[in-house]
Amino acid sequence: MACMSLDVDRIRSSFPALSQGVAYFDGPGGTQTPREVADAIAATMTAGLSNHGTVTAAERRAEEAIVAARSAVADLVGCRADGVVFTRSATQAAYDVSRALAKRWGRGDEVVVSRLDHDANIRPWVRAAEASGATLRWIEFDRDTAELTVADVAAQLSPRTRLVALTGASNLLGSRPDLPAVAEAVHAVPGALLYVDGVHLTPHAPIDVAELGADFFACSPYKFFGPHHGVVVADPALLEELHPDKLLPSSDAVPERFELGTLPYELLAGTTAAVDFIAGLAASEGSRRQRVLTSMRAVEEHEDELFTHLLDGLSAVGGVTLHGSPKRRTPTALFSVAGHTGQQVYEHLAGLDVNAPASSFYALEASRWIGLGDDGAVRAGLAPYTSTEDVDRLVAGVAALAGR
Ligand SMILES: Cc1ncc(COP(=O)(O)O)c(C=O)c1O
Repeated sequence: MACMSLDVDRIRSSFPALSQGVAYFDGPGGTQTPREVADAIAATMTAGLSNHGTVTAAERRAEEAIVAARSAVADLVGCRADGVVFTRSATQAAYDVSRALAKRWGRGDEVVVSRLDHDANIRPWVRAAEASGATLRWIEFDRDTAELTVADVAAQLSPRTRLVALTGASNLLGSRPDLPAVAEAVHAVPGALLYVDGVHLTPHAPIDVAELGADFFACSPYKFFGPHHGVVVADPALLEELHPDKLLPSSDAVPERFELGTLPYELLAGTTAAVDFIAGLAASEGSRRQRVLTSMRAVEEHEDELFTHLLDGLSAVGGVTLHGSPKRRTPTALFSVAGHTGQQVYEHLAGLDVNAPASSFYALEASRWIGLGDDGAVRAGLAPYTSTEDVDRLVAGVAALAGR
């Protein structure tokens, strides 16, 4: 499929895993890894590495890995480097931030979560609300279209709203709420904050946290070619207000006070390499931030085009039901095949070297809300390395099963 600025063949050549003939549609669960990222991790581990510090070269390497990764994430999402917090996972980030915020909540305060979200951006807030005595409110969404509107959010706001937790994009259905409009509504309540789960949005769109209006924005590098850890970013001034539990001798500075224990220096080097890789996806010039934005616009364009091809292909197969049809969406299709369980479709496709799992993918509330229960359905997500041939193989595989 032609795309002006994304050379998919060139991109694919950076991924050793793609030479094995498997078509990966499980990017929403974690993308494949480019050689550059794996090399950066190995190089950091073997160069001589100690606990970060300033005296030995090995200490300085660790320190540089941290500083470089904060700056890389800042270029990826358009925030300040000193507002970048590294965590074990996005799930841990939400638990940590929710516990820190909940110290300021009490009876009568309201915390708002959504049925669209991954459980990582629901359960930590449910727990924190319970622990603080705050009231929990739920944002619902349209069961047929899978759209979650500003009105759906506004319906749950009140003068007592302290926090709204909402996804930038659903990892199950692809729906992308209008975050700037949501942020405007949330911020009309004095003192209310917006925590955005950007895990599924970040791999698919240019991100500018200030434009989105997110007070906190979480993402996971392993969803965009990087290693397995989490990130949450915020204005350093907001982080200064919060006092998470921490060890006595560890730094009380921001953002370090939010980072418990020794950071995974090698993984941080991998994340820097992932952001550099993204900056190089489309041929462009300028600062890394500018190149990231150009690349991500090209990714969006490429994925939109290929996604239309995927949806056309799947909807032409008799017996296939596509779940949700949000207008603004990531290239993430959720579907069922009549007469077959999701697990059967998943296993059938796996036998054809097409990886498209079936599950609720931890978006359990959303899956139940749209009537798919705890089992969910089959999910096919695109990535910048997805080729037209991959999509054709998926569709042919589904058609072969549906025709039986
Ligand atoms: C939208 C979304 N949020 C949160 C998570 C959890 O991320 P992590 O594994 O970094 O905790 C995922 C993982 O699939 C996700 O897709």
